[in-house]
Amino acid sequence: MADITLTVNGQRVSTTVEDRALLVEFLRDALGLTGTHVGCDTSQCGACVVHVDGKAMKSCTMLAAAADGCEVTTIEGVAKGDALHPMQKAFNDNHGLQCGFCTPGMIMSGIDMVARYRADGRTLDEAAIREELEGNICRCTGYHNIVKSIQQAAGEM
Ligand code: FES
Ligand code: FES
Repeated sequence: MADITLTVNGQRVSTTVEDRALLVEFLRDALGLTGTHVGCDTSQCGACVVHVDGKAMKSCTMLAAAADGCEVTTIEGVAKGDALHPMQKAFNDNHGLQCGFCTPGMIMSGIDMVARYRADGRTLDEAAIREELEGNICRCTGYHNIVKSIQQAAGEM
């Protein structure tokens, strides 16, 4: 067992976790943050993407114990009260989801890529978005509107 203290969506959490517990299991099972999904057991689908210290991370690839001292943001933490994050609004505006299973991971990856490209002064065009989404799978195959959503949000964030 490991004692950890971390910040999740702005709230400090101190608890004990099993050494083998994955971050995604901790978020979903211990904290009830079920917006972070598990879509595979091969670290391929990206449904579990959260931000750890401001960077996108597949939370099925990280032990909860390794998040000790980190700041974690999940899909539940990106809106400001009733005001959707621009990336959430863009997915809504562009019908960037069908069943919605991949959507939290797509949104968290989208926010991360916009921030990274802006910080580097690079242009996040359609080709770059498609390449960046390599780690996120949509089984409904709604990629066209997902790309449009991220393009819209990139102009608004
Ligand atoms: S559940 Fe993490 S990549 Fe699929
Ligand atoms: S909207 Fe259904 S998996 Fe992407």
